[in-house]
Amino acid sequence: MTARQFVHFNNAGAGLMPQAVTDAMTECVRREAAHGSYETELHYDKILQEGVYQRLATLLGAPARDIALFDSATRAWCSVAGRLRLGATDRVWVTPFEYAGNLISLFELRDRTGCRIEVVPLRPDGELDLDWMSANISDDVALVSVTHVPSGCGIVNPVAEIGRILAPYRCVYALDACQSVGQLRVDVAEIGCQLLTGAGRKFLRGPRGTGFAYVAPELRASLTSDFHDLHVARVSSPTGYTVEDDSARALELAERTTAAVLGLHAALGHHESAPVAEQQPVAEALRATLAELPGVELIAPGSTQSGITAFRHRTLSAQDIFHGLGTRGINVWQIRGDHTPLYLTERGVDQAVRASVHYYNTVDEVAVVGRALRDLIGS
Ligand SMILES: Cc1ncc(COP(=O)(O)O)c(C=O)c1O
Repeated sequence: MTARQFVHFNNAGAGLMPQAVTDAMTECVRREAAHGSYETELHYDKILQEGVYQRLATLLGAPARDIALFDSATRAWCSVAGRLRLGATDRVWVTPFEYAGNLISLFELRDRTGCRIEVVPLRPDGELDLDWMSANISDDVALVSVTHVPSGCGIVNPVAEIGRILAPYRCVYALDACQSVGQLRVDVAEIGCQLLTGAGRKFLRGPRGTGFAYVAPELRASLTSDFHDLHVARVSSPTGYTVEDDSARALELAERTTAAVLGLHAALGHHESAPVAEQQPVAEALRATLAELPGVELIAPGSTQSGITAFRHRTLSAQDIFHGLGTRGINVWQIRGDHTPLYLTERGVDQAVRASVHYYNTVDEVAVVGRALRDLIGS
């Protein structure tokens, strides 16, 4: 065990916020109460208008003007994908690892535009079939949506190789990096995507209610604009308005939680000095421990795994394991198959347990979890 009185293996839900984050947020809320919220916003103007965008841009290898902030990763994804100008002859590719929230938005887009949604097949080993992608890509594919690391299992998809396959074609390459940013290196130029979305609260250890997107300029220019808020547009005549900012911020709403944005800024600063990918030995120890437990089935398709591991037990329900570990001071999460429906539900997984580790977790904690599971399983 660490100095912490519990084991936190739910980083794919939300990472633990470091002190710098809670300090930044607490200070902001105190200042709002003492001096006024608008006045506090002015006080932090430089961070809120520039600093947080610059830190995200540095993290993602993107220009700051291509970054937009949202209150969740789903809002970030839908605010862009939902505005694509698609028609009835367009095809959209998703992978079996697509997040259900994105799929709902795509189904709405399909119903509105008549576009067709196709699912990229997997190879027998669970890897995305890149040969199929190379053989079938053409210019009637308008959007390819890939999840870097899914919500419901730990596979790391080969996003840069996919980018190279797609590069000569017209399609928008959208990457859901919600579960990878903060635990894996993510660079939009190396990957070659035009859209990348993520959340602050997971492996970046930021607060809840923060999400972000990288939106390439050519993609922004091609979107339908259904709305602009007053931080980027103004009513310039009795009958019309002018958009005064064509950066990605044009996709945002003006109103947001100042403390959350400051918390995200602090988390990004903390992340810049934090180790990346050091969770691998702990994740491997966890998978090895789980694999040895009688009746446990790992849900781990593909060859490269991240800090996320999903599993279920032959007789104990996911709920039993979740509660049983919870009462022993161990945070894991009970996941639903229909949140990653094209993979988990399709394979008959309705519920599973997800254990997700970060660089601050240790192999000693894995041993604690292993003992607790043995105790629960009765082996
Ligand atoms: C892969 C993936 N994409 C998107 C999301 C949605 O994130 P949010 O809840 O911030 O909208 C999640 C949430 O867990 C996720 O795991």
